[in-house]
Amino acid sequence: HNRKFFVGGNWKMNGSTDSISDLVNSFNQGVMSQSVEVVIGAPYVYIPLLASTLRKDIAISAQNCFTKASGAYTGEISADMLKDVGATWVILGHSERRSIFKESDFFIAEKTKYALSVGLKVIFCCGESLEERESNNTMNVVERQLEALIATISPADYENVVIAYEPVWAIGTGKVASPEQAQEVHAHIRTFIKERVSSDVAQNIRIIYGGSVNEKNSNVTATQTDVDGFLVGGASLKPSFFEIVNV
Ligand code: G3H
Repeated sequence: HNRKFFVGGNWKMNGSTDSISDLVNSFNQGVMSQSVEVVIGAPYVYIPLLASTLRKDIAISAQNCFTKASGAYTGEISADMLKDVGATWVILGHSERRSIFKESDFFIAEKTKYALSVGLKVIFCCGESLEERESNNTMNVVERQLEALIATISPADYENVVIAYEPVWAIGTGKVASPEQAQEVHAHIRTFIKERVSSDVAQNIRIIYGGSVNEKNSNVTATQTDVDGFLVGGASLKPSFFEIVNV
């Protein structure tokens, strides 16, 4: 396969002009190999700051967007607007959007379809809660979340999609999934995509892991066959994020 290693940072609702400027300075000085794709997911309002100051070999992502180009949708931001201010990626279906903001599988699939249609690339998140894992429903939940996507986008669209597997119990908890736990679900996702989309898409799509990844635990997980990178939350807000980039 020729899946380029992918490291995304998801800053979530964190940062200020000052703190982000400091972080950009640090990232801009970091040494980065050609064989990794790096994307930073910033709060909407800081995207223009990143577009004007962040090194060009790191792409900019938003953390959400809506399903329409414009109109009477007070408070929403469109994929078109994100592109306009310099984002090339968007994170969709993050578990915090699913749980706190009650976004459905269908809504997330529709958002993905629209974002792809305007030319944004999508980090599509999926993953089970602790309760779902303990009741042996991990694969069912992940399949259900992916099924909505598969029913909504076309096979050619997957070229611009990265799947982030993020078990909810590992997000922000310091409880990272073991390399074996991550590999098991990633392999299952790849097989599911092979069956439901195509072996070509399954072979080429990147499946990245998210949930308490840091510079100390990323190296073993990075070597798992079906782990093609990471989506990093808390640890992407520090200069040491670059140690994960260069894992
Ligand atoms: O999108 C990132 C994930 O939610 C992981 O967050 O690294 O802070 O656990 P975390």
